[in-house]
Amino acid sequence: MNYTVNGKKFSAEPDAGQCLRTFLRDLGWYGVKKGCDAGDCGACTVLMDGKPFHSCLVPAFRGANREITTIEGLAKDGKLHPMQQNFLNAGSFQCGYCTAGMILTASTFDDEAKADLPHHLKGNLCRCTGYRSIDDAIHGIGEAEEDVAGKAAGSSLRNPFGPAIVTGHARYTLDIPPPTDVLHMKVLRSPHAHARITAIRKDKALAVPGVAAIFTWEDVPRRLYTTALHEDHLVDPDDTYILDNVMRFVGQRLAAVVAETEGAAEEACRLIEVDYELLPTVFDPELAMEPNAPVLHDRGSSSGGMGPKPNVYVDIHGEIGNVEAGFKEADAIHERTYSVSRMQHVHLECHQSLAWKSDDGRIHVRTSSQAPFITQTKLAYLFGMYARDLHVFTERVGGGFGGKQEMLSEDLCVLGLLKTGRPVMWEWTRGEQFTSASTRHPMTTHVKIGAKKDGTITAIQARVVSNTGAYGNHAGETLAASLGVFSLYRSPNKKADGYAVYTNMVPGGGFRGYGSSQTTYAMECAMDELARLLKMDPIDLRRKNVVQPTDRIVSIWEGPSDASFGSYGLDQCMDKVEEALKSKRGLKKPAGDEWVEGKGFAITMLESGPPTEHRSGATMALKPDGTYHLAVGTSEMGNGTTTAHKQLAAQIVGSRIDQIDIINADTDQTPYDTGTFASTGTVVAGKAVVLTAEAMRDRLIEFAARGSGVEPAKWKVEHDAVVHGHTRKKLVDVYKDSVKQNWPLEVMRKAYLSPRTIAFNAHGVRLAVNRMTGEVMILQSIQCADIGRLLNPMQCRGQIEGAVGQGYGWALYEHMDYDASGTMLNPTLRNYRIPAFADLPRNEIYFADTYDKIGPLGAKSQGEAAINPVAPAVANAIEDATGVRFPHLPFTPDRIFDKLHT
Ligand code: FES
Repeated sequence: MNYTVNGKKFSAEPDAGQCLRTFLRDLGWYGVKKGCDAGDCGACTVLMDGKPFHSCLVPAFRGANREITTIEGLAKDGKLHPMQQNFLNAGSFQCGYCTAGMILTASTFDDEAKADLPHHLKGNLCRCTGYRSIDDAIHGIGEAEEDVAGKAAGSSLRNPFGPAIVTGHARYTLDIPPPTDVLHMKVLRSPHAHARITAIRKDKALAVPGVAAIFTWEDVPRRLYTTALHEDHLVDPDDTYILDNVMRFVGQRLAAVVAETEGAAEEACRLIEVDYELLPTVFDPELAMEPNAPVLHDRGSSSGGMGPKPNVYVDIHGEIGNVEAGFKEADAIHERTYSVSRMQHVHLECHQSLAWKSDDGRIHVRTSSQAPFITQTKLAYLFGMYARDLHVFTERVGGGFGGKQEMLSEDLCVLGLLKTGRPVMWEWTRGEQFTSASTRHPMTTHVKIGAKKDGTITAIQARVVSNTGAYGNHAGETLAASLGVFSLYRSPNKKADGYAVYTNMVPGGGFRGYGSSQTTYAMECAMDELARLLKMDPIDLRRKNVVQPTDRIVSIWEGPSDASFGSYGLDQCMDKVEEALKSKRGLKKPAGDEWVEGKGFAITMLESGPPTEHRSGATMALKPDGTYHLAVGTSEMGNGTTTAHKQLAAQIVGSRIDQIDIINADTDQTPYDTGTFASTGTVVAGKAVVLTAEAMRDRLIEFAARGSGVEPAKWKVEHDAVVHGHTRKKLVDVYKDSVKQNWPLEVMRKAYLSPRTIAFNAHGVRLAVNRMTGEVMILQSIQCADIGRLLNPMQCRGQIEGAVGQGYGWALYEHMDYDASGTMLNPTLRNYRIPAFADLPRNEIYFADTYDKIGPLGAKSQGEAAINPVAPAVANAIEDATGVRFPHLPFTPDRIFDKLHT
C-alpha cells in the first residue's frame, strides 16, 4: 500500500487489523500519542487530507493514498505553524501529552470554528490546563515575555521544552524505538474482589506462538513492600507482593506474560486457567470495621487487623481543649456527614516502563514516575540487588497528579528482564488505569461545629473514615493530611478521630490535595451551614475564625510543629474573591423559572511539603561555551518545575534561562531527590537550585577575583561575564582559565524541607441550577491564591487553572461506579467523564501579594491546594440556589434532580 506521511511517500503493509495510531508510531512518528485507544481523548489526532481524525479509530489501511500529517509534519521549511507558535506564546500546555492532538485539531479551525470551541474541541481532552490557555492560543492571545538576562524570576517565560512539545519531538516514556529484541508485557488481572488462588494452569497460554514466559506469584521474590513512594518507607505498610496468591480487589495483578508482540501476550492472558477459592468480601469501610467482617490482611492480632477493629490499617486520634465543654458553650451547633467520591487521576500518559540491560550488566529502567530515586531503592530491595546496578530515569512524563507516586509498572518489567534476559516494555491500557491504578481515597467525614451567637467557634469535632481499598499505600499519610485541615480555624476545643480502613476495593493513593481535599470539602460545607444557622454571612463567619499570622498552627494535636507562616495572604485571598463575587461579572442566569441562581465560597490552607522527610539536591557547572549545566533530581510531570528551576538559577547568576540547560530525574546523572509530590518541586528542589546557583555565583567570583587585587565582594556575575567596574571577564574565558588552573567550576548543594511554609486559596462561584433537569451551569468562577512571589505568572496561573478544572470535574462530572461484586462499570474516559472544553468556565484568577520568607526567592507551593476549595464552593452555591444541601459528591444532574423532586 502507498502512504504519504508528512510529505514522505513510501510503501508499507500494515498488520491485519492494525490501527493507524500504532502503524504511525511503529514508523517512528512518536508525536502520535496513546491516551485511550477508544477515540475519547484525541491525543492520537492526525490530519488526513487536512481533516483531523482520531488515528486510534482509523484502520491503518484507510490511511493509504491519503495525505497524512502528524504533528512532526505541521511546521514547514523550519517555520512553526502559527498554531504551534500560539501554543508557545500562551503557555498552553503543562505535561504536553495532549498538545500534538490539540494543535493539529486547532490548526484546521476557521473563524467559525474558533467562535464555537466547546463544539469543535469536544474530541480533544486535556487533564492539566483547564483549557483557558488553549482557548487563548487558538485566539492568538499570548502573554509570554522575552527571556532577558537578570530578569528571570517573575517573568512569564516560555517553557524551555515548549518547542519540542509543540513539534512532537519531546520524548515521553515509550517515545523511543524499542530495542530490537524487546518483549511486550501484558497482565492478567483478578476478576474477583477477594479470592485465594488454588491452581494456575499455563500450558495453553505458553503454547501461543511468541510467548516467552508467564510469571505468577510462585515466580516472584516473596517480599512484602508498598507501592507508595515516600522518603520514609515506614509511613506506608508493607502489605503487597509483586504477584500474590490472594486477590483482594477486582483488577489486581494475577499473572504477567511476556511475548514477542502485545497481541500474543494478550491472547496468552486470556488462555491462563485459574482456580479460585472465593472469599467473603467487604467494600464499605464502616462494615469492614465490624467485628465479624472479612479480614483482608491477617497480621496475627486478635482482630486479624492491625488495631482493635478489623481492617483498620491506622487510626489517628487527637484532642485539644475539651470539645464537650466547647459544645456546651455554643449557641448553635451544626452537625452532618459529608462524603467525597473516588476519583481517578487520568494523566493522559498511562503507567509505562521499559527495562533493559547494558553490556556492563547494569539494568536501566526508563519510566513514567514522579519518584525515580525511590523506585530505584525499592527495586533494589525487591530483587536483592545493589542500587548502583540499577539506573532509573524519566525523560518527559505525561502528567501524574500523584498517581505516579507509586511503583506500578517498573517491578514487573525488571522481573521479566531478569527472568528472560531480554528487554521488557509494558504500557497500561486506559481500562487498567481505571480498574487497577490508585485513586483518590474516598472519605466520609462527620463534622460537628459549635459557635456562639457572634460566630465565635467554640468546638470542632470530626470523625473521618478513609477507604484505602485493598492495600495501604498512602493510607496513613493521607489520613494525617485530612486531619491537618482543622488547623485552618481557631477554636480552643478540637477533636478528631480518623480511620484508614482496608476494603476489597481498588487501592487509594496520592492525589493532588492528598487527603486535605476530602476534609476541606466537609469542613467548608459545614462552615456554610453553620453560618446559615447563625444567620451570618458565610465569608464573615470565616473571617471571624480563620487562623491569624501570629497564631500557632494547631490542628488536633498539641506539641511543636515545623509548619510556619513564611507569609500570610489569606485575608487578601478572601477579600479579592468576595469583591469579584459582588461584581456579578461573568454569565447571566439563563432565562426561565426553572433556573435558580446561587453563590458559594470556600477556603483552604496547605502546608508546602509533607510532614515526613523530603530532600533534594542540585549540581551546576560552567560549560566551555560560557553557559551552564544544571542537574536536579526532581521529575517534571507538567508542573513546570524545570522552567521554575531555570528561572531561579538564572536570576541568581544574572543570566537568561536559555543560558542554562537542565536535566532532571535520572539516578545516574542528577543528585538525589525524594520525588515530585506534596508541592515540593518549588519549595525543596527549588531551594536546592537556589543554594546551588548561589554557590556557583560565589565560586565564579572567587575565581575571577583571584590575583586581581580586588576583593570578591566588589565583583558580580551578570549575563555572560564576571564583572568589576569596567573589567568584564567573559565566562568562556573564565572557563578556559579554570581548566588551566585546575579549579573546577562545578558545585552542588542540597536542601531539606523544614520549616514548611503555608499557602492559601479562596474560591468563589456563582452558578445556576436547572430545577427540572438537575443541570448545573457555572456563571462565574473566581480563585485567589497566596503562593508567595510568582516566579512565572503565566505558569502559576496555568497551575491554578488546571487544579480548578480538576476541582470542577470532581464536583460535577467524574464518577467511578461499581457493581455488587466490586467490578468497575465505567472504566472508559467516555463514561468516567473528565471535563472537556465545554464543561469548564473561564476563571478569574488572582494572586495575593506576598513574599515568603521561607520559600525560594519568596515563592511557595502553587498547584496542589487550588483544587481543595472548588467542590465545597460549588456545594455551597447549589444550596444557596436551591435551598437543598447535597452533602455527597459528585453533583451530577440525576442526583440533583432526584433530591429536588423527592
Ligand atoms: Fe494537556 Fe497535560 S497538557 S494533558
